[in-house]
Amino acid sequence: MSTPWWRDAAIYQIYPRSFRDTNADGEGDLAGIIEGLPYLKRLGVDAIWLSPFFKSPNRDGGYDVADPRLVDPRFGDNEAAERLIAAAHDHGLKIIFDVVPNHFSSDHIWFQEALAAKPGSPERARFHFYEGKGADGSIPPNNWNSVFGGSCWTRITEADGSAGQWYLHLFDTSQPDLNWENPEVAADFEKTLRFWLDRGVDGFRVDVAHGLVKEGISVDHPDPEGLTRALRFDAEFEDKEYRAQLLSNMPFFDREGVHDIYRAWRKILDSYAGDRMAVAEAFISPSSRIARYVRPDELHQSFNFDFMLADWSAAEMRVAIQQTSAELSEVGAVPTWVLNNHDSSRVVSRLGDEGKARALALLTHALPGGLYVYQGEELGLPDGVIPDSARQDPVFFRTNGADKGRDGARVPLPWKSAELNLGFSTGEPWLPLPSEYGMHSVDVEELNPHSMLNFYRTSLGLRKSHPDLGARSELTWLYSHEGVLSFKRGESLTVVANTTEEQLSLPESAKAILLASNGDTTLENGVLTIPSHSTVWLTN
Ligand code: NOJ
Repeated sequence: MSTPWWRDAAIYQIYPRSFRDTNADGEGDLAGIIEGLPYLKRLGVDAIWLSPFFKSPNRDGGYDVADPRLVDPRFGDNEAAERLIAAAHDHGLKIIFDVVPNHFSSDHIWFQEALAAKPGSPERARFHFYEGKGADGSIPPNNWNSVFGGSCWTRITEADGSAGQWYLHLFDTSQPDLNWENPEVAADFEKTLRFWLDRGVDGFRVDVAHGLVKEGISVDHPDPEGLTRALRFDAEFEDKEYRAQLLSNMPFFDREGVHDIYRAWRKILDSYAGDRMAVAEAFISPSSRIARYVRPDELHQSFNFDFMLADWSAAEMRVAIQQTSAELSEVGAVPTWVLNNHDSSRVVSRLGDEGKARALALLTHALPGGLYVYQGEELGLPDGVIPDSARQDPVFFRTNGADKGRDGARVPLPWKSAELNLGFSTGEPWLPLPSEYGMHSVDVEELNPHSMLNFYRTSLGLRKSHPDLGARSELTWLYSHEGVLSFKRGESLTVVANTTEEQLSLPESAKAILLASNGDTTLENGVLTIPSHSTVWLTN
């Protein structure tokens, strides 16, 4: 059997709003993505995944979908989406769309109908509408928090002007959660999947894949604040054991019922030719739970966030790699590797410098399985510094600024250093591009043989062409020296990463350096000299 394309694909995440603007409205668009395809092809990725570009009031960066089968005019129209699918395929790139099944936008016709209808009506039954507690119903139905901060309940005003029922929203108030016990909901999503599959998309990234089913809505959680903090995965949650306990049993995440939904979706995907796939965004813990989303009759991949959250430490990364690989292999699935995305800090900012980010990338590009690259990662972009007055993320507003939110990772891409707005747009960009992005712009990095961009081109190119980096080539762990991670892929490729503060000299039987994240790496007379915080690929 031939290996399906996604098994070891490098998939480039596009945040459409920030990729490339062709109509001067300050936001990227689908035509801009078509223009960028040669750049992506040259980068060496196999596929692109687009964050949502569907009709949306954009209160959560398009993850508040008002019509999942209609392109928002800010990005183009449905014909542009079809042109993009065709153009990606012409470039030999697969293309994945985002599907957001946990919630709709409050602008979706269903929610508008629900507001206009009565309590107990079929229109309300598509969402989670409940009476409040207390004599006048003014207390929310339970004490759960929104992942974005504050209560996850909002009270509506009924059509007759009276204070009414409450609806559940795990995210922003503008994102009412759908009731997946209602068959109408499942039917509508199946229609959406088929709609885009019929138009040629190669797969989907499933937003909040672990969230669709809720249990025990009438029961209060013993520690809602603790759960909110645990879900933020912030380093400040000191009692790790308690955090793990909270995350292991959540009333609204990772319930058994979600798996039936994915079994049904898998049948739909399998009914189309061409290895159509889906990747779960399941931010859950412990990692062993993730394997349940990628059993043979469910989804194909799930993002590996444990690796993304691991420190730049040989020991920590080795545990994350080994654990995920072992857990997934039990269900016959392969891991994916991701260093950042539109919800996290950019990898350069997270690790604190470009050298470490380069070393981490080289290590990651040698791991077996799927790889996700977030737009701008290949340029070594740090998070953009944004004045509070320009912020857009609901996380910032719902936490009253305590959490700055995710806008820093969503700043538009710099294309041309000498042009207005670094070539992203001739209009006013929706988030300001910091001047330091100039030195990271595509035109500058293309000319510099030592740039992050050219480094990514080389490593992604080798990842594709080197016989030992193929989907079927085994990973074998090599010696463990403190602070060093080392493994072999296939017959001849050795990877060594030094995560210590010291330059190290290590005995090495490999014959030559194939690619090093730090140019001062040497291999002479059986001794590898590897600088601090760097990775090297060696061959026999
Ligand atoms: C995960 C998405 O990646 C994020 O951007 C969004 O805010 C939430 N899901 C809610 O849809």
